[in-house]
Amino acid sequence: MNKLKGMFDITADQGYYALVQNAIQTVVNAHHIDRIDTPILEASELFHRGMGDDTDVVSKETYTFLDRGDRSVTLRPEGTAGVVRAFIEDKLYAMPDAVKKVYYEGPMFRYERPQKGRFRQFHQFGVEIFALPAPALDADLCALAYDFMSTLGLSGHLEINQLSKSSKPAYTEALKAHLKPHLNTLCPDCQARYAKNPLRILDCKVDHAHEAIQSAPMPLDYMSDEETAYFNRVQSHLDALKIPYTVNKKMVRGLDYYTGLVFELKVDEAILGHQNTVAGGGRYDELVKTLGGPDLPATGFAFGLERLVVALKAANIPPVDHPLDLYIMVLDDALSETALSLARRLRLKGARVDLAYHGGAMKKQFKAVAHKNASFAAILGPDEVEKGLLTFKNQHVDASESVALDDLSKMLEILGVTHD
Ligand code: HAM
Repeated sequence: MNKLKGMFDITADQGYYALVQNAIQTVVNAHHIDRIDTPILEASELFHRGMGDDTDVVSKETYTFLDRGDRSVTLRPEGTAGVVRAFIEDKLYAMPDAVKKVYYEGPMFRYERPQKGRFRQFHQFGVEIFALPAPALDADLCALAYDFMSTLGLSGHLEINQLSKSSKPAYTEALKAHLKPHLNTLCPDCQARYAKNPLRILDCKVDHAHEAIQSAPMPLDYMSDEETAYFNRVQSHLDALKIPYTVNKKMVRGLDYYTGLVFELKVDEAILGHQNTVAGGGRYDELVKTLGGPDLPATGFAFGLERLVVALKAANIPPVDHPLDLYIMVLDDALSETALSLARRLRLKGARVDLAYHGGAMKKQFKAVAHKNASFAAILGPDEVEKGLLTFKNQHVDASESVALDDLSKMLEILGVTHD
């Protein structure tokens, strides 16, 4: 049996995922953000209403099926819609604090064409903030995303744009009028987008150099004075925070719910090719209301963890590695109780210990020590028990030290395990 196309097992890369988890904890603690976990499976309608029927993600990429009760259900393609549903259903807005910040991480599913950095099951770390729009909040969210990458030792390039909420219909019409004469020269995807989701034509990877797109009106040209002032204020906050960014006038983001400031973090194309966007997000001021909640604006972002792992490897950043402190070799099955009890006592004090469960064949046991990359090895045999002494052999340098079998503190000292 093989895994499904576009899905993968995480085996050797666990250390990179652990690194990402540590960085997530660092930033969410620093920003004091609560964790939220929502179901992986939701009613299909949530995504149709939340993300827009005409977006590629909803129209072509969802894993949707009927459950045994004939209800249409969908494996979540992203985290925002489910978080908003929970926010409304669990009345999280009734909490005393005015600004509600939550984060999540977990698997998402999109039936996409698999390629480098694009999978059918992938993982996201996302943050959603429910609060009235404020340039300082949007800048803080961009800073969080940027600093998360720095915490990992990565440098991401921040691109921002502002989609006009007030003039979206007028802008969409102007864009369509501009593109109409060139329609048959656009790629097939863009021709399909023209009717349903024309804004997406702007950030098409195939047509990005097309003259008609280069000369097209941009969302920024259609902003109200108030929206322009807001966007300028976000930029001055980012300048003050010394966070480098560029304004990408053509960035529209793939999902329908965006209403204002949008942003993406990218890494070099040399690392991830066209899938070099490691995070995306922005304001979705109407989604809570659209899904039946109060009129409460919100903003957020999500990182794709697999893309971060590729970037970490490309930057030669070492993964989290917890080497085995001690491997206890056992010469004789009769000593397994002594070995087990020693291993247990050391483990309870925080040491990472493994042992041979079958005595005998030393050659095999030495192989196990090498395979497990243990820092120290000790051989427990009848002699050691008789003398009450065990020898800890350092596996990285030629050194060894004998220690009394009942001297746990000394053993932990040799292993370098700090304990109370
Ligand atoms: P998104 O841009 O669709 O936004 O996805 C966010 C990130 O998830 C992408 O930048 C990418 O790193 C990763 N990603 C997306 N699809 C795949 C895939 N097939 N394989 C691997 N990685 C992928 C959202 O999902 C929004 N919910 C973000 C958001 C939160 N906006 C506001 N709040």
